[in-house]
Amino acid sequence: MGQLMKRIGFITSGGDAPGMNAAIRAVVRTCVAHGVEAVGYDRGWQGVIEGASSHFTSVDVGGIISKGGTMLRSARSEEFRTKEGRAKAHESVKKDGVEGLVVIGGDGSLTGANIFGQEFNFPVMGVPASIDNDIPGTDFSIGFDTALNTAVEAVDKVRDTAYSHERIFVIEVMGRDNGFIALDVALACGAEAVLLPEVPYSLEDIRQDLKQMRNRGKVSSIVVVAEGAAEGDAESSSIKDYLGQVEEFEVRHIVLGHMQRGGSPTAYDRVLALRLGSKALEMLISGSTQQMVGIEMRKLVYHELYDVLTWQKMLDPEKLALVNLMAQ
Ligand code: F6P
Repeated sequence: MGQLMKRIGFITSGGDAPGMNAAIRAVVRTCVAHGVEAVGYDRGWQGVIEGASSHFTSVDVGGIISKGGTMLRSARSEEFRTKEGRAKAHESVKKDGVEGLVVIGGDGSLTGANIFGQEFNFPVMGVPASIDNDIPGTDFSIGFDTALNTAVEAVDKVRDTAYSHERIFVIEVMGRDNGFIALDVALACGAEAVLLPEVPYSLEDIRQDLKQMRNRGKVSSIVVVAEGAAEGDAESSSIKDYLGQVEEFEVRHIVLGHMQRGGSPTAYDRVLALRLGSKALEMLISGSTQQMVGIEMRKLVYHELYDVLTWQKMLDPEKLALVNLMAQ
């Protein structure tokens, strides 16, 4: 298929993820290589609604590959959830002469892209970027590897002090609806237990396990808790209080929070972002629409956005079994 577009737009939307800047760089420079004008919108879909656009040259994206966050900034737009908001966004891209959009973001942003594309028959391509790694149709989303390594570094440090003081630490990591970060952090840090939103758990069982480990001579323990497994009555501070009932155990709790979303992207995330961003742009200008690019078994793939948004990414039960096995 030949090249069909002269001017495209791009946004970063939803929770920011390290590597978004590398994806922006890939989109812009691939545009330049194909003689396509690149128009970036500030603050995700909200910026499209408000017409917050600017033209990007190759020079504009120099030096951003190693930077965390997103130079375009990001937002979760409530207005875009309404039909009126999306109509404003459509007027805005038409006014700018933008013929297609690359949307770099998580499942909410890609859902928005799918609806927008269908409602206005407007070409859209999705690039999965979210530290949560919960987007189906790709083994990895941009930002996950960096967030994982950030969390692992923090938990390793906590392990040092946990050992010195013979304490239990309850450590909450991000993941509102899923435990992908938590599970890999638990494996990589040798956690004694992990609590995931997808898997029912009993605090009493965990307390008994920790007690037995203590009796076997394990002087410190790390319990990794995904944000989504630590809500309501089971907030991580309450989990800490509950586990604190283990005789002679002192328990502390930490929420790692948004530090996991920042920082310079790992080499893996940079390379992934460049590959996905460039491919999405090439597909868009060749006439593809309503697709998301991804990586499976190390190869670039693409899937219908509709399919991606109806699938569900599942935790690997073998990984969970391995956490428990390694804690013996
Ligand atoms: O989706 C990424 C994520 O970091 C989740 O893990 C977390 O629950 C959420 O965003 C936090 O969102 P906000 O920055 O709006 O508080």
